[in-house]
Amino acid sequence: MEEILKLKRQHKLVVAADGGAASGKTTGAKLISKKYGLKFLSSGLLYRHASYILLKYKPKNIIPFLKNHFNNLSLKELNNKNLHLPEISAYTSVIAKKKKIRSILKTYQKKFANKYNKVCIEGRDIGTVILPHADIKFFFKCNLNIAAKRRFKELRKRNKRITFTEVKKAMRIRNNLDKKRKNSPLIQAKNAVIVQTDKLKNIKGMLNKMSETIEEKIKEKYGS
Ligand code: C5P
Repeated sequence: MEEILKLKRQHKLVVAADGGAASGKTTGAKLISKKYGLKFLSSGLLYRHASYILLKYKPKNIIPFLKNHFNNLSLKELNNKNLHLPEISAYTSVIAKKKKIRSILKTYQKKFANKYNKVCIEGRDIGTVILPHADIKFFFKCNLNIAAKRRFKELRKRNKRITFTEVKKAMRIRNNLDKKRKNSPLIQAKNAVIVQTDKLKNIKGMLNKMSETIEEKIKEKYGS
């Protein structure tokens, strides 16, 4: 049976996982979080949630409204299937450009990271802006066609009329907006470990690659 290097209660491990849409980062980050006992946060869900409540409540004063909301946000609120609707995805990358909105969500993510010894946050700017001193920074890459196939399969379950071409086009637009924006764009951190998910055989292959990196880091920090 496979041996897993266990982290002790007092040990610290901070992991950042970034990448484009449907690059595999959420799946990878969740799997290693479960395996090594890390508290997991998807920052994409925070941005999606902000976009969802702005569209739903249409507040006059966006910034105080979001500040107040994120001060009291419970993670349970992020468990909402509507956050993955294509119109929410599209609007999210529009609001994610705004510095003041990013700053509110940054505070939330920093608080989350400070609360626990062992954390993993996934998103676009985690290794570069949110957790620049992370122990490990993963950067997920995937060819657009393959990423779009993954997303299409998920979206098709809920909407039989959606086409592959629409999904791929929306993802290309969103990735470009995320890469080209001025504030916290999607870029690879200098010391990031690349996880090229279209080159890995399957999810197990991805988990093995990530586990190797994590176990090396645990050995380096705490001995074997
Ligand atoms: O990761 P996910 O696809 O759910 O993210 C949705 C959108 O949220 C992204 O396309 C991006 O515009 C925004 N986002 C961001 N910074 C993050 C995480 C997500 O700008 N750290």
